[in-house]
Amino acid sequence: MIPQLINRERIYIENIGQYEGKEVKIHGWLYNARHSGKLWFLLLRDGTGIMQCVVSLKDVGEEIFARCEKLTQESSFVATGTVRADKRAPGGYELLVKNIEIVHIAQDYPITPKEHGETFLMDHRHLWLRSSRQHAILRVRHTIIKSIRDFFDSRGFTLIDAPIFTPAACEGTSTLFETDYFGEKAYLTQSGQLYMEPAALAFGKVYCFGPTFRAEKSKTRRHLTEFWMVEPEVAYMDLEGDMQLAEEFIEFIVQNVLATRREELKILERDTSKLEKVTRPFPRLSYDEAAAMLTTPEAVAFAQEKEAPPFVPGNDLGGADETYLTQKFDKPLMVHRYPAAVKAFYMKADPENSDRALGVDVLAPEGYGEIIGGGQREDDVEVLEAKIREHDLPMEAFQWYLDVRRFGSVPHAGFGLGVERTVAWICGLHHVRETIPFARLMHRLYP
Ligand code: 4AD
Ligand code: MG
Repeated sequence: MIPQLINRERIYIENIGQYEGKEVKIHGWLYNARHSGKLWFLLLRDGTGIMQCVVSLKDVGEEIFARCEKLTQESSFVATGTVRADKRAPGGYELLVKNIEIVHIAQDYPITPKEHGETFLMDHRHLWLRSSRQHAILRVRHTIIKSIRDFFDSRGFTLIDAPIFTPAACEGTSTLFETDYFGEKAYLTQSGQLYMEPAALAFGKVYCFGPTFRAEKSKTRRHLTEFWMVEPEVAYMDLEGDMQLAEEFIEFIVQNVLATRREELKILERDTSKLEKVTRPFPRLSYDEAAAMLTTPEAVAFAQEKEAPPFVPGNDLGGADETYLTQKFDKPLMVHRYPAAVKAFYMKADPENSDRALGVDVLAPEGYGEIIGGGQREDDVEVLEAKIREHDLPMEAFQWYLDVRRFGSVPHAGFGLGVERTVAWICGLHHVRETIPFARLMHRLYP
């Protein structure tokens, strides 16, 4: 029926401009159709773009013209015709059709141009991916991931994959997914950091990039139970170096997306002037400076309006606190030196104030909040042992990790960037559920 084409010979809509005036075959699905007397206008979607196919009764004859009538939304078909430039057509080109070959007639497609609820769309995520907004988001995600790899690969970092099964907690025991490992307890990884630290002492500059898991019982717009994180770690680097690396990294990603994904950002109606401003240096606030801003009458009123708990100095920042702070700046904001008590066991204490940890969170502007968490690690074996005890963590499970401090310990630092929160910010989305192909949330394991 449909001749099998090998990829090399296949013509895709994204490159259609190269074929102006030539006859081509496009393989795709019906996005939408319009009928007017002796003409059919078929919007053909092929995964790389959408193109208008003009079918004229006069050119194709009764039989082929009648096939257009049969095509339902998302039916698959192959169109053969001549490419013509037309400024009015979406994408700037249209196809003057000579033949239509039907591959499959789709049943009643559940996602129609009318408005659907969020739950309905998430239940049909496997089909929703075909819609132009979702398509645009995932193409931006692809570019963000490629930018992440390009950034580290071009700066001499070595990719070191971290394991998914782990014996112990990295980011606190309350969000661990437990699993049975041949009669022993194992957990799905929360972060690759503990493995990047020894790798940094072996390779100097490393990063891992993979899925991480947190049993987040909170149903917020920022939390997934499975998300992707990239984690660089560098030997002989302190908190200052870590902050410089983070700002260079974020600037690189945003500017790369702006340079290559204008079309997609337009579909998403993203205000790109806000992204243009994401250039170094980023503003910095110590936790104490941030705390002062969060206890003003204006900030208190803001939290009340959002029905969020009021900020208490000494506590971690909540979602509403981050939103308030980031609305005061038009670039990502770096908040450093949080109270040691609210941060993970591995953070190094500030030598100038032992109650403060040498950690940094990078908060994305426009209310988005934390996209990066990181800092300088404790590099003294005795101090770290005391911290493990203080946090009630199993000492035996951390012996290998303590070895990093026993054999040539050096100052070292790193961070983790959450891909989905970064995609949400760059695309201007309200919720992280649309930033990953198949979201895993507290109440969602399907599709
Ligand atoms: O701040 P977190 O917990 O830091 C760490 O895991 C460190 N061990 C990383 C490191 O230093 N190597 O998480 C880092 C980032 C957050 O800033 C956020 O972007 C993302 O991971 N993140 C989540 N994204 C989506 N859903 C969740 N439940 C997330 N939890 C964290
Ligand atoms: Mg964090």
